[in-house]
Amino acid sequence: MHAVASASRLKGQTIVLVPTMGFLHEGHLSLVRQGRKLGNQLIVSIFVNPTQFGPNEDFEDYPRDFNRDVQMVAQENADIVFAPEAADIYPANFQTFVNTTNLSNKLCGLSRPSHFKGVTTVVAKLFNIVQPHIAIFGKKDFQQLIIIRQMVCDLNFDIKIIGAATFRESDGLAMSSRNTYLSQRQRSSAPALYQALLNAQKMVNANIKKTSTLIQKTTQFIEARPETQIDYIAICDPRTLEDLKLVKQPALMALAVKIGRTRLIDNMILTP
Ligand code: PAF
Repeated sequence: MHAVASASRLKGQTIVLVPTMGFLHEGHLSLVRQGRKLGNQLIVSIFVNPTQFGPNEDFEDYPRDFNRDVQMVAQENADIVFAPEAADIYPANFQTFVNTTNLSNKLCGLSRPSHFKGVTTVVAKLFNIVQPHIAIFGKKDFQQLIIIRQMVCDLNFDIKIIGAATFRESDGLAMSSRNTYLSQRQRSSAPALYQALLNAQKMVNANIKKTSTLIQKTTQFIEARPETQIDYIAICDPRTLEDLKLVKQPALMALAVKIGRTRLIDNMILTP
């Protein structure tokens, strides 16, 4: 992969990388389509990265369908699928990790303490191997996106990071490979995350600016749905992820909710 990427760069091609963990859905494909327009060497990586899963998380169960993924990517005219084995990325003597110190300890980092360290490590490795000029990440994982931007800045990667809009099902549920875990009953609770975010924006429009009130009302709304268990609901500064008391400027509202055993996340920028 490194040799192919180096040759592309010598030919003056623009390399675009869309990193994924596979089991692709329309959300991923929207990133691939965006990538197709931005460069002439479009690479989609598929790698279920073990280091970003905690010990009791779903690494083993994470859905995988490599042949289907390759077909989907081919239909979008991507040039290369890069799908390394875990032993290629983490050989026996592997011992170097990349970690952001502040951003990764907030929101999802509180209940998934080693998650972002695994993400930044694998993304840094993908950047070094694939040598992209541009890389595209979904805004559904807003925290991941800003952590990667921070890493790119701190480690002087010469890569433009693009954040792509969240792709949703018709009832508003953000697309995620993990949605396939949901039972029918759980699936009917899942759109509550997006509805809760829309409700919060409506409350802000109605001049309710206190984040404690917004969070309390959102908690009640989500807890009223079957099988929901809130991990966190936060309203914070979209650059630092520090909690805000009032929505006086655009604020990130982010939430993580377990529905049954499936942990879903979503977010929205609340605008006063
Ligand atoms: O967002 C994902 O799918 C993963 O976290 C990523 C960026 C591909 C790294 O494994």
